[in-house]
Amino acid sequence: MLRRGPSAHEAWPVSNATWTPSTWLSRPAGQQPDWPDAADLDRVLKTISTLPPLVFAGEARELTHQLGRVASGEAFLLQAGDCAESFDAFAADPIRDKLKIILQMAVALTYSAGVPVIKVGRIAGQFAKPRSSNTELIGDVELPSFRGHIVNDSGFTAASRTPDPDRLLSAYHQSASTLNLLRAFTKGGFADLSRVHAWNQEFVASSPSGKRYEELANEIDRALRFMEACGVDSSVESQLHEADLWTSHEALILGYEEALTRQDSLTGDWYDCSTHMPWIGERTRQIDGAHVEFMRGIGNPIGCKIGPTCTPDEAIEICEVLNPDRIPGRLTLTVRMGATKVEDGLRPILRAVTDAGHPVVWACDPMHGNTFTSESGHKTRHLEDILTEIGGFFAAHRAEGTWAGGVHIELTGDDVTECLGGSTEVLVADLDTRYETVCDPRLNGRQSLDLAFRVAELLRAGA
Ligand code: PEP
Ligand code: CO
Repeated sequence: MLRRGPSAHEAWPVSNATWTPSTWLSRPAGQQPDWPDAADLDRVLKTISTLPPLVFAGEARELTHQLGRVASGEAFLLQAGDCAESFDAFAADPIRDKLKIILQMAVALTYSAGVPVIKVGRIAGQFAKPRSSNTELIGDVELPSFRGHIVNDSGFTAASRTPDPDRLLSAYHQSASTLNLLRAFTKGGFADLSRVHAWNQEFVASSPSGKRYEELANEIDRALRFMEACGVDSSVESQLHEADLWTSHEALILGYEEALTRQDSLTGDWYDCSTHMPWIGERTRQIDGAHVEFMRGIGNPIGCKIGPTCTPDEAIEICEVLNPDRIPGRLTLTVRMGATKVEDGLRPILRAVTDAGHPVVWACDPMHGNTFTSESGHKTRHLEDILTEIGGFFAAHRAEGTWAGGVHIELTGDDVTECLGGSTEVLVADLDTRYETVCDPRLNGRQSLDLAFRVAELLRAGA
């Protein structure tokens, strides 16, 4: 659903002439792998720097424009996908099913709340994971931590855990294939609104939210028929037949991001062409750090996570460094404070950033502040905590008169049992049944749709 306005073609002004794609090297870079052979790494990065870009500057500018509508309260951001994509579970079906649930959630939000939804996947490049410790100790064996398939493998052997630069190249190629399939699905008929029923997978359709979705899909059918009967030629309305699914990932491994950063021939500006919307994680958002240095110079719309320790002054500083020209849609602050902390923690930040005049897309990541280990030993999250955090996020915005702009969710279209709760409840005893995540626990298709309807209610209540 591309709508091109004049601001889609605005250039990203590089206000600091000293920035280049490699100035991050002079800053401390957290969370970088200990590559065993610098020459080998260099060889791979040189190869990647000669490969075609995965996305284009014009697309990134269009997404900035779309997110600008979110910043001004006219649209809603749905950012969702795996915690970490896997080299092992790489196939067409899981990608299709992830797309299905994201389309379903977007329809639930758009239809129930009446706002346009900008869809951004954590997909086609979401491979790298920040870790709280550089090593993992099991018994008396200590090995490097698993950092995502772009770096090493999760198996607990020295060979699996040794960072391997060739994985950077594999990540590039997997991203390219994933993106190719997504482009085919979203532009080739799969996302056509007349197929709204086909996105409801069987295991989702049988749940209460799935049934609610089915009713809504029937209403959409009726509305489409009504339009046809009125003489509207819907075949020419591309918005009804195609969708945009933009890509995003945490820009963690800076050598990889740099190798895909290219100068736009149209504007002369630099874009990180590994993804439409890279983001900075909670662990690497230091103002003087390498990640902030790298991201401030690229023209893409970017995200930055902010956790419970973020102060109002820090938030303003982040805005000033990452969006000095105050371009709406350029910067998304993704709040991940935890269910009990978000309302009180966020309000002073909203006030300070608004008073400072910074346009921001405010998104709620209700996942990363609500993780715990169950009695069964599984790293999990409870859907109720996730919904409580979203509720607190909306309450903070309501109190401060700002726009709760979006949600950032870890999910899969599959029928996994990784998070607890939901209208078809996953219990602790169920966690072992299908616990498949490479990293953090994801909502399954049913739980994701439960969440979408709840968010739609919050949006309606605020309208
Ligand atoms: C993530 O999004 O998977 C992640 C690690 O988040 P955060 O940086 O907020 O901890
Ligand atoms: Co995660």
